[in-house]
Amino acid sequence: MRGTITQDSLQQVLDHYSAGDWNAERVLITGDLIQDDSAEAYERFRELLLPLNMRMHCVPGNHDVRELMRAACVRPPFSYCAKEEIGDWLLVGLDSCIEGEAGGEVAAEELDRFDEIVAASDAKHVMVCLHHPPIPLGSTWLDTVKLKNGDELLQRLQQSGRVRLLIFGHVHQPYDGEHNGIRIIGTPSTCRQFKPGSDDFAVDERSPAYRRIQLGADGSIDTQLIWIDA
Ligand SMILES: [Fe+2]
Repeated sequence: MRGTITQDSLQQVLDHYSAGDWNAERVLITGDLIQDDSAEAYERFRELLLPLNMRMHCVPGNHDVRELMRAACVRPPFSYCAKEEIGDWLLVGLDSCIEGEAGGEVAAEELDRFDEIVAASDAKHVMVCLHHPPIPLGSTWLDTVKLKNGDELLQRLQQSGRVRLLIFGHVHQPYDGEHNGIRIIGTPSTCRQFKPGSDDFAVDERSPAYRRIQLGADGSIDTQLIWIDA
């Protein structure tokens, strides 16, 4: 992919995590797992991540193939657009993809599914994971492929009164903001990055990255972005 072997850069990220002393309990993977539309790529993805030996929540991105990804990611320890209660937190994965388009939209049925999941839970705090950002990032080309109904999504999330955090992928650069009490966080890719603030498509020379997120019982969110060359 643009001069980088993505399997190698993902492995570097995994090795960086394994060499550190920070032990996660879950992995959140926010889409665009593969590029070549093959079932074999998803199997390779599974093999690479399985040694982490923990539950891994996956949501699809615009480069994924839903049927192939679902088949690979519904098999434990992976899950696909799933929900899970962990202590005081409820975690919900949403599908924001539109077949054949780079931009996204959370469909009405998916918004309803979210409301039902939250209504059935006593968790005090909710974290939402999806691929597309619900807000503009100030990058002209990327903002044309964000979530089409970001305002609608954020309004629905706010109505629940319990959503504290939304994380997304897609943009290959860091983002950390807030919208009416909901923290909104984007994380760079495990492969190549895009240049922030760019009007046209442009790659950045920064290293692969991942993010640590710690969720407090009081609803607090502690997060640290890890560039693997830092
Ligand atoms: Fe994407």
